[in-house]
Amino acid sequence: MNSGEITKTPFGATKEGKTADLFTLRHNGVEVRITNYGGIVTHWLTPDRRGQVGDVVLGYDTLDGYLKATPYFGCLVGRCGNRIAKAQFSLNGVTYRLAANNGPNSLHGGVRGFDKVLWEPKSSVTPGGPALELNYLSPDGEEGFPGNLKIKSVYTLTADGGLRLDFTATTDKDTVVNLTHHSYFNLAGHGDILGHTMQIRSEQITPVDATLIPTGKFQSVEGTPLDFRKPTVIGARIDENDEQLKFGAGYDHNWVANKPAGAPGLIARATERTSGRVLEVSSTQPGVQFYTGNFLDGTITGKNGWVYQRRHGFCLEPQHFPDSINQPNFPSVVLKPGQTYRHTIIYRVSVEK
Ligand code: GLA
Repeated sequence: MNSGEITKTPFGATKEGKTADLFTLRHNGVEVRITNYGGIVTHWLTPDRRGQVGDVVLGYDTLDGYLKATPYFGCLVGRCGNRIAKAQFSLNGVTYRLAANNGPNSLHGGVRGFDKVLWEPKSSVTPGGPALELNYLSPDGEEGFPGNLKIKSVYTLTADGGLRLDFTATTDKDTVVNLTHHSYFNLAGHGDILGHTMQIRSEQITPVDATLIPTGKFQSVEGTPLDFRKPTVIGARIDENDEQLKFGAGYDHNWVANKPAGAPGLIARATERTSGRVLEVSSTQPGVQFYTGNFLDGTITGKNGWVYQRRHGFCLEPQHFPDSINQPNFPSVVLKPGQTYRHTIIYRVSVEK
């Protein structure tokens, strides 16, 4: 059986002068490159329906690009993905203050989140495919969060074109954990993603206020431009006069996954007509943030000299709901000593003939 291969090359030096590596995973004609800096997926090369290989994620060719400016391209997000209101929370009667790096709120783990640290890599070829294991010990107090948190994330490129991410984490003090992955996909390679079709298996979103913090309520998607229960072109309703779309400057919301907790279940499916490519996203988490790259503004030139304009990529970030630690109605993101946080995401790219 062909289980693929994994190779390693130096990718450059971090700000602290440490060497980051770039790992290339190949399996059945698909190639994914991942660096242990931020756990970033830098390239994802996969054939279209004519067999032409193209790159379906946004990013840079060099580490330097990621060090200078990145809107979280392809990275591993943590310790707490998405926003924490007013950059603070209390746990066991103690108030923890975080850096406000997104207006008044904390976003994606703070100033130096898991997307900006060097992970300890271990590569292997497993029966499931080439695999990259990344380990990181986030010290007690890092970015204001309590507890030494030990995280392992394993990326496996499976035979069917899937990139499987298995996260586990343990702590020595009660803490908050909400990990996710932040690839910007463009199934056509480049240009805007407004012509892609999206389907999200969800009946409800968690509506937000003007700073993108959930109100704590649940809102049915029925009759709104956020209804993706049937495959719908992303651009068809994105600029409609809808309060939620105005707050997000487009889609930037959490959909409540319509699946039982536990085993990974399909939550979203995107297709692109000209390439014939299909992206399916499965996860074990209760929600998925669908973000349409509304904040990209043409100031970044990435791989192949492509200028990333507004809405040139979309993210599907399976995770717990935003600001869960401050929201009594939402599933808990608290991890206690003795417990193991587990989260699996599978992104699979295939072609429709
Ligand atoms: C998430 C957030 C967005 C934005 C992007 C990164 O999707 O919800 O508001 O911060 O990450 O730019």
